[in-house]
Amino acid sequence: MLESIKEIELKFHQDISHAATTQDLEAIKVKYLGKKGPLQDLMKELKDVSQEHRPAMGKLINDLKGQLEKTLSEAIDNLIEIEEDRALKAEAIDVTLPGRAKTLGRRHVISHALEEILDILISMGFSVEGGPEIDTDYYNFEALNFPPEHPARDLQDTFYISSDVLLRTHTSNIQARVMEKRKPPIRIIAPGKCYRNESVTARSHVFFHQVEAIYIDKNVSFSDLIATLELFIQRLFHKEIKMRFRPSYFPFVEPGLELDIHCLACNGAGCPICKHTGWLEIAGAGMVHPEVLINGGIDPEEYSGFAWGMGIERLVMLKYGIRDIRIFSENDQRFLNQYSSL
Ligand code: DAH
Repeated sequence: MLESIKEIELKFHQDISHAATTQDLEAIKVKYLGKKGPLQDLMKELKDVSQEHRPAMGKLINDLKGQLEKTLSEAIDNLIEIEEDRALKAEAIDVTLPGRAKTLGRRHVISHALEEILDILISMGFSVEGGPEIDTDYYNFEALNFPPEHPARDLQDTFYISSDVLLRTHTSNIQARVMEKRKPPIRIIAPGKCYRNESVTARSHVFFHQVEAIYIDKNVSFSDLIATLELFIQRLFHKEIKMRFRPSYFPFVEPGLELDIHCLACNGAGCPICKHTGWLEIAGAGMVHPEVLINGGIDPEEYSGFAWGMGIERLVMLKYGIRDIRIFSENDQRFLNQYSSL
């Protein structure tokens, strides 16, 4: 019996040394101290021991039981402590680590340019007007004196939503709206997005921005138009820029012109931005056609006016030497971050 006691003690300590979790210890407890454990067997065997040795043996078995229980409960306490410690360490935050910098959103280079353009024009006496990007054929074409068969109405150029509703092809759609709700003197600008059903290339896109300007009063002359455009361009580029005015045709102006400015990207030598001409067309302009004034309820005998529509992407491309219009709408961080200080 003595040997059995020693063997149980030995095996118990071996098992304990392999226990890694509190569950392992629970299993050991059941194995040694449970009803079917070896200690119970020994108790049963006591009756076969001589009366003389029985009390001593009984005490040995009881002592062993007490010792096993004590060792087990210490081991359990120990493991619980280790497991808690591990959990705490896993959750721990190292407050000495450097923080992660947040990436901040920035204004797009086009938004920034628009703001700059509006600031200049506001300082010249214009006020800002909004207009719908989804509009009717009337405001986009008819009120602007476009004959029904005019090629700009062609499906190739215009995104039609229904036979009468379309995505505006230019910011000129605000002209008749403004004339309907205001009486001269009218001196407004209208920035916004425009849409054309064109193939996307390095120089043209299906969507782009324009700023429309319209000035109607008594005695507004062609030289007012030229002087205003010249002053505006100088203020925008902060220097004298070579410009040229070419006669052009738009149904809603008479006379009409296009404004070209000297290509700053190549300094006139010729590059892909200016199609190797040294010049870049940035605006259409002219004296408001009498028919358009009449459509807006303004008497052309009493009033005259000028208007222009200017392409923003073109101006920005020129200002920063950007060679492909598509990059503005591609959300490429490498491009956008170059203008993060604006
Ligand atoms: N709307 C014309 C275009 O997008 C540009 C334009 C030309 C606007 C002459 C005007 C203007 O206001 O007077 O091509």
